Amino acid sequence: SSNYSIGQSVQERGLPRVPECYTIPPSHRASLNPDVADVPVVDLAGLQQDPAQRSIVIDNIGNACRRFGFFQITNHGISQAVLDGALSSAFDFFDLPAEEKLKYMSNNVHKPVRFGTSLKDGVDKIQFWRVFLKHYAHPLKDWVGLWPQNPPNYREKMGKYCVEVRKLAMELMGAITESLGLGPKYLTNKMEDGLQVMAVNCYPPCPQPALALGLPPHSDYSCLTIALQSSPGLEIMGNEAGTWRLVPEHQGVLQVHVGDHLEVLSNGLCKSVVHRATLNCERTRISIVSLHSLAMDEKMETAKELVDEQHPKGYKGSSFRDFLDFLSTNDIAQGRSFNKTIK
Ligand code: SIN
Ligand code: FE2
Repeated sequence: SSNYSIGQSVQERGLPRVPECYTIPPSHRASLNPDVADVPVVDLAGLQQDPAQRSIVIDNIGNACRRFGFFQITNHGISQAVLDGALSSAFDFFDLPAEEKLKYMSNNVHKPVRFGTSLKDGVDKIQFWRVFLKHYAHPLKDWVGLWPQNPPNYREKMGKYCVEVRKLAMELMGAITESLGLGPKYLTNKMEDGLQVMAVNCYPPCPQPALALGLPPHSDYSCLTIALQSSPGLEIMGNEAGTWRLVPEHQGVLQVHVGDHLEVLSNGLCKSVVHRATLNCERTRISIVSLHSLAMDEKMETAKELVDEQHPKGYKGSSFRDFLDFLSTNDIAQGRSFNKTIK
């Protein structure tokens, strides 16, 4: 269906122009000089301190989830060495020769480890300027043996980051359910054997970055997503539809996205954030995205504590498997409408 086959796109870094199959309609293009988002930065140090400090942090987290569906965190407890180790092992993976990566190539969204691009057998009308490696990560011992053996330190470096970022996600989920008046254990018990899906994204330099996108607008089908990026490129939609803002990058800071499942749980009090990945012509950008959800077949339901006459239940429960089944026959740009179809 296209001259640009899967796995080849990393080599496209030498192209002088963006091929037509990547060109997106003018109304959906990114600005080369976007406004910078004024996103809340939450200092997590107080979470471990006395109850008064802790409740201030919980308020900050709760407000960020309600107002923006997105925030950045500092003092999250993951060392710079662990962050850098994960990023450099990701860069090293994408630098491998194509045949090494193609071993993991698959369009089957149910595969626990897969390498790919946005092209799904012609399902997607527009291709996106991204290659990715996706793999499950929790419990680590069940999956790490399936991860790439090259680069040789990938499993160790990425594994270390995955374990730490999951611990952080559980702490944040506890804080969020506490801020909703549901208590800190409301979800974390269920999430003990929940899913952790890593999406390791690589966006090669693009010769005409305004014509293409790394990822189209979508919200994440997770409870909570924590992301680490090597350089700026993530944009979030502001409160007015169509207003895109660039997320500023500060060393060591992590990005937290409210996912669709937290919107369902909170009966819409928390809103999942719509975001997209933009491109630049100078350097490869990597993002390491950790998606945290309930177990594969566990349906996320709205908390009955948050439903009453003034706040009728606005969502139908669904599981991660329901979403994957939807995704396997629709393109990622329609991911957002999955959430709508189940309302
Ligand atoms: C994503 O939405 O999964 C990735 C966004 C990014 O690359 O920052
Ligand atoms: Fe996302």
